Amino acid sequence: MAAALQQRFRRALITGGRVGIGRTLLKWLQSEGLEVRGTTRFPSPDSPELLSADFSSSAGVDAFLGEHQDWLSEVDLVILNAGSADFGFFPNQSEAGIERQLQLMLGSVIQLSRGLWPALSRKPGGACVFINSLAGQFPIPGFPVYNAAKAGLSQFVESLLVEEGQGGPQILNCCLGDFRTNFNQHVTQPIDTSKEEEKAWARIEETMSAAPDPKRLVRCLERRLQKGHSGSWKMGSAVQAFWAPLAARLLPASWMRRLVRRYYHQ
Ligand SMILES: NC(=O)c1ccc[n+]([C@@H]2O[C@H](COP(=O)([O-])OP(=O)(O)OC[C@H]3O[C@@H](n4cnc5c(N)ncnc54)[C@H](OP(=O)(O)O)[C@@H]3O)[C@@H](O)[C@H]2O)c1
Repeated sequence: MAAALQQRFRRALITGGRVGIGRTLLKWLQSEGLEVRGTTRFPSPDSPELLSADFSSSAGVDAFLGEHQDWLSEVDLVILNAGSADFGFFPNQSEAGIERQLQLMLGSVIQLSRGLWPALSRKPGGACVFINSLAGQFPIPGFPVYNAAKAGLSQFVESLLVEEGQGGPQILNCCLGDFRTNFNQHVTQPIDTSKEEEKAWARIEETMSAAPDPKRLVRCLERRLQKGHSGSWKMGSAVQAFWAPLAARLLPASWMRRLVRRYYHQ
């Protein structure tokens, strides 16, 4: 197993490698013998594998691509993972927060893909992995902009998939259900919350605490990379990754909406 990945990839970049899913993936690829770099807004001499980057502005992306041009020109596996959300129903979303979320999880991802595509396409066998969310398909109340950014990301990756021709990298759109990380602790909260928002948040916390360990994602991703096919996959618990999408195919949209509202105590 280990030999297969190392034979195919030499150098990997993961955006957001300090904590959470990014950390788990970074450790995995290191253990597979790849030369791996992650990114963080909080660099430290104790973690030389983490490059400093803030992707909440397009200038931040340009600075990162420019500063590490040489190292990045040889990268053959990229995992675009960095993300965070602002909680609050739509009237409670700030203008600055809307801009930041759209830039971090959509604008920057497109910009980074564009900047890294030549390196990924330079020789056969490169891969670009997009860490996406099922929230793009099943909106979570209180995350309207996050949901929209992830839905936009899905459509961007689908566009790459329909354009895919000879010579490009393998493209993986990983639409994740919940995986147990500190994502919720990093969510920006509004100053005032309504009763409805509090009820939705309680359910969001409950779902996260019962979610699978991100190590489970390693097995899914490894399998997909080894199969070598591009595509879009749902990954997570059986309820989120299999039963909910099946129900969405069978039930009218209004029923699904009602189910989602009920699940989040709305
Ligand atoms: N956990 C889940 O249940 C779940 C479900 C679906 C999708 N996802 C997606 O998985 C990805 C990782 O989430 P996680 O659960 O691992 O959350 P997390 O533990 O909060 O990690 C978020 C990562 O994003 C990076 N990041 C945040 N803001 C950034 C910015 N402005 N510029 C650059 N990097 C930034 C953070 O890096 P630093 O703080 O070090 O800068 C951190 O590494 C996200 O895209 C998320 O949407 C997660």
